This record gives sequence, structure tokens and C-alpha cells, in this order.
Amino acid sequence: MDDNYRAQLQGKVVLVTGAAGGIGKALCEHLVGLDAKVFLVDVNQRVEQQAESLNQERADSAGWFACDLCQLQNIQQAFDSALAHFGHVDIVVNNAGIANSRSLFSQPDHSELEQIVRINLLAPMEATRIAVRYFRDAKRTGVVVNTASVGGLLPLSVMESYGTTKAALIFFTRTCRSLAPLIRVNAVAPYFARTPLVATNRIVSQYPLVQAVGLMPPAKVVRAMLKAMCDESVCGDTLMVSMGCRPAKVAFYDELALDVTSYIVKGTVRKYASAFSKLFMRALDGTIGALRKRAPGAET
Ligand SMILES: NC(=O)c1ccc[n+]([C@@H]2O[C@H](COP(=O)([O-])OP(=O)(O)OC[C@H]3O[C@@H](n4cnc5c(N)ncnc54)[C@H](O)[C@@H]3O)[C@@H](O)[C@H]2O)c1
Repeated sequence: MDDNYRAQLQGKVVLVTGAAGGIGKALCEHLVGLDAKVFLVDVNQRVEQQAESLNQERADSAGWFACDLCQLQNIQQAFDSALAHFGHVDIVVNNAGIANSRSLFSQPDHSELEQIVRINLLAPMEATRIAVRYFRDAKRTGVVVNTASVGGLLPLSVMESYGTTKAALIFFTRTCRSLAPLIRVNAVAPYFARTPLVATNRIVSQYPLVQAVGLMPPAKVVRAMLKAMCDESVCGDTLMVSMGCRPAKVAFYDELALDVTSYIVKGTVRKYASAFSKLFMRALDGTIGALRKRAPGAET
């Protein structure tokens, strides 16, 4: 499997946000092991040191840019820095994210809500906008991978804002399907993994599901991300990832879209059918009236 991915990813430039964290760091290390080049973006300055150690492992394999992605103008700067460093970009992984520290309804003001929407939703959308325009202008094929979550598929209580941003990210990913085959935008939706995000968040670490099932190694998420990057049959899709299972496409939105479309079409047909039948009856009455007038011996 790794040999197939190596053949596809060798020499490719991958910009990874949240590269200092559990999943992002594991992804960058794996990519460099496959001879790809990585550009590490994170608010944590540790990315500089991480890029250095990756460069020691494989010369010229890593660059970095430290910034807060909540400030959306920083995203263009991060992208431009990657271009300046490597000359081009092939893949963007929107992986930086945070979880809410407590239920939305226990928060005294809107500050955490605003931050979570910025980092989990606005930043990936803005980075995708920049990447798609770049791929088009440079006439290059490209891939975007968004890190969503099972929290975007299962409405988990007390994770209202986290789950809502991830559900929106899955939906956004689906809306980008029409960009394929030249540009593929995919997402992964992992079950909980052993990373600093979980270790430092009491809501997640004490979640009954986590207590009952345990945590996945980040490597499991990395494998799904590689599939999202390399498998051309995956486009506009979200791959679920959990322990003991292979990554699987989420089918939820296909069925929902069919339901909604048939509901709208049925309603429209019904509405116009009744208007049309009234019109038809009026036209028929008019025609019969006119024929009667023309008929020999017709009443005048
Ligand atoms: N760990 C899990 O159980 C799990 C499950 C499903 C989805 N995810 C998602 O995976 C992604 C990575 O999570 P992780 O578990 O590795 O978490 P993590 O906390 O270990 O890493 C997240 C990284 O994002 C960076 N980051 C946060 N806010 C930022 C900002 N404003 N600007 C720039 N960088 C910022 C952090 O500094 C950190 O390095 C997140 O999007 C998360 O929602 C995680």
C-alpha cells in the first residue's frame, strides 16, 4: 500500500495546517517518509523546530510558517510562503482545529463560539478558496483534504459548536465535488484519536463513547488522509475512520439530497399540474365555444 502512495506522492508539495499537533505532526512525518515535501503551518512556533528535524531526516523536505489561522488574512500569507519555499503546491490539508471546552450553553459569552467557527470552518473554506484559485490559475491538478470528525456526523451532546462546524465542513466538501477530476476536495471524519486535543479536553476525554471504546492511534487517521489524497475515486467525499475498520465513504448526503430533490420536484409538479389543468380547462372551454360558433346552425 505504502509503495502505491509513495509513487503518487513522491516530490509532491503538501501544505498541512495544525502541523504541530497530534494528527498533523504524524501526517507530516509519514509524508516525508514517502518522499513528499511538507509545508508546516501552525499557531505553535514548534513548527520551526519540527521542520528542521524533518530536513535533517531528508534534505529540503520541509518548510514552515507560524500564524494564527483565525485571522483569515494569514492564510494567503501561509500559502504564498509555501509557494516561495517550494515553487508550487500540490495538496492542501486543512487539519488545524479545536474542540469546545464546555457546552455552548455553559459559556458566558460568544468568544469561544466565534473562535471555533473561525478555525474549524472559515479557515478551511478560505484555504480551499485560495487553493482552488491557485490550481486553476497555474493550470495544475490539486487536492484539498479537510479534517472533519465523527462529531460532524453524530450529534454529540455538549459538543454543539464543534459538531456543527464539522458537519458544515463535510457539507462544504460535498459542494466542491463538481471541481473534480482536476481538483479533488475530500474530507476525513475520524472517531476520537490519541492526541493533545483529546488529552487536554475534559469533555472529549470523559465522553461515554471514549470511556467505552478507547482512542485510535493518529496513524489510523493518517492512512485515511493518504487515501483521500491519492484515490481518484474519492472526490467530494468524506471518509469515516474508526478502529478496526477501513476508511469508508459517508453516504448520508447522497440519500438526503435525493429525498430533498424529489420532495421539491414532487411539490413543483403538483403546483404546476393544478395551475396547468385550470389553464387547460379554460382553453378547452374557449375552443369548444369557438367551434360551436362556427358550426352550421350555431346559435348566435
Ligand atoms: N483527536 C481526535 O480525536 C480528533 C477526532 C476527529 C477529528 N479531529 C480533528 O483533527 C484535527 C487535528 O486534531 P488533533 O487531534 O491532532 O489536535 P491537536 O490539538 O493535537 O492539533 C491541532 C493543531 O492545530 C493547531 N491550531 C489550533 N488553532 C489554531 C489556529 N488558530 N491557527 C493555527 N493553528 C491552530 C494547534 O496549535 C495544534 O497544533 C482537528 O481538526 C480536529 O478537530 C481530531
